[in-house]
Parts: sequence; C-alpha cells; structure tokens
Amino acid sequence: MTVVIGRAKINLTLDLLGKRDDGYHELMSVMQSIDLFDRLIIRPSSELSLGMSLRSGVSKWLPQDERNDVMRAAHLLHKQCGVSCGAEIFMEKFIPTQAGLGGGSADAAAALIGLNKHWKLGLSDEELRDFAAQLGSDIPFNLRGGTALCRGRGEIVQPLPPLPPVYVTLFKPPRGLSTSRIFSTLNISDFEEGTSLKFVDALLSEDACMFDFMSNQLQETACNELPELFEFTRRLRDEGVPWWQMSGSGSTIFVLAKDKEQALRYRKDLAPLYWWSFATKTSDKGAELR
Ligand code: C5P
Repeated sequence: MTVVIGRAKINLTLDLLGKRDDGYHELMSVMQSIDLFDRLIIRPSSELSLGMSLRSGVSKWLPQDERNDVMRAAHLLHKQCGVSCGAEIFMEKFIPTQAGLGGGSADAAAALIGLNKHWKLGLSDEELRDFAAQLGSDIPFNLRGGTALCRGRGEIVQPLPPLPPVYVTLFKPPRGLSTSRIFSTLNISDFEEGTSLKFVDALLSEDACMFDFMSNQLQETACNELPELFEFTRRLRDEGVPWWQMSGSGSTIFVLAKDKEQALRYRKDLAPLYWWSFATKTSDKGAELR
C-alpha cells in the first residue's frame, strides 16, 4: 500500500500579463503551499480504479472517471510508461472544489508521486515535472510546493526561500467559481504589471514587509460574479483586518494571522453563516509520501 498527500496552495500574488495565442493567460504568481491536504491510498489491482470520500459541505460531487485529475495523471503514467498492471486508488478529499486552492492539481501531483513509487517507475523529479506540466498549469508547483514564483501559464516554477511559518484562515462561500469561466470573462483592462516582483524583492531583501505587496488581479472579476465575496471583502476592510486576499480564481478568501490563536479567532469572529472556514498554516512542502 502507498499513501501520499497533495497540499493545497494560496496565491500571495497573481498578476495577469496578457492573453496568449494558445488561449491561456500569461501570468506571474507567488504561490504558497498550506497544510490542508487530500490523501490518496493506493493498493495493488489489475484494474485502474478511483473511489473517494468527500467531506460534507466541502466538496461537491466529483467525477471518478477520466475527467478526475487523479485518473488523468494515472492514465498518463500508465500509457507513457507502458505499465501493465492497474491500481486501486482511494482519495480522502478535504480541499474544497472550485475554491482557488488548487485541489485538483494537488490530487494530480499526489497521484504522480504515489504511482511513481507504487509502480516502481523510477521517474526523476524532472520527468515527473514534465508529466505534471502536460496535465495542468499549477501541477508542477504542486509537486514541489513551498514558496515559488510561477510564470508562463503557471507551469514555470522558480523556487523561493521559505517564508517564516504564517497562519492562514480560509473562508469559502457555498458557491464556488470555475477557473475557466473567470479567465474567460477578463477584459484587456485587467492586464497590468502587478506586484509579484515587488513581493519577491521584499522577501529576498527583508527591506519591506512582503505581505504589503499581496494582490490578485482576478479578485475584482470574481467579486463581480459572486456578490457575497464582495460583501465579505468589504467587511474585512471595515474590520481593519490587515492582510487578506482571494486565492487563485476564487472563491476562497484567505486572511493571514500572526499566530494560531489569532487564526482561530478570525475563524470564530468572521466566518459568515453557511460558509466553510479552516485555520491552517503555510508549509514548505507540496505532495509527499506518507
Ligand atoms: O491548466 P488548467 O487546467 O489548470 O487551467 C484551467 C483553465 O483556466 C484553462 O482551461 C484556461 O481556461 C484557464 N487558464 C488560463 N490561463 C492560465 C491558467 C488557466 O486561461 N495561465
């Protein structure tokens, strides 16, 4: 049996630089792993199959066939590496879907690492990264995790020194947001330089507080799609919460806290009724064998 976890991420910055000929958007983003993860349990089998448990109120229905990111990763390795046996995969899902936390990418990264071991493929980190980039924009980041500046469509990952551990409280409304829909509703006026490089400068030089350079250029579009997000961000502003932002294409808003007590207090005091909320901290790892 092989057990592997895939961690969620938040985007500390997300700059939109333009639309590419392949339909994707050129972006720059400081991504950060957090200690919220899905777990895959892989057992020997002649067939390739996926089962899962979903936490109520967290994940809606997810496909268990080739449309699932775990199965996409498994089929890619199976085909490209000429594997003759199958695998029975069971996923315990804790990362909410349509949340901007990279849950599907975390699962695919975990599947690559887990099946590399289970099928004794002996793939190097570089080979795994190539498979990851074929599967999705964020998956190369999710393999390694930690703190990184991601460019291109997100698949070019430049590792950064780890942040000091920071506590993070996550808030997600019942409604999620589709990444492709948010990207498809962008206007040309949404593209501008952004703050990623300033964030990296502050992280490397320690001259300024890097969190003052957090920004997400998808946030306004997402708030226009979901008025409840707009309401919540107004509340955070009114309450004087210093560091908060939407992650990825939403619909999760994260708040940074100075310690565990403050993270739990934010959760208790700020979570709107029926919203999912979770207090966690940053991690310097992505997908990992357990
Ligand atoms: O690559 P991934 O499957 O994660 O992307 C999901 C969708 O998000 C893409 O189909 C595309 O519509 C949009 N996207 C984009 N530009 C990016 C990343 C994603 O337009 N850099």
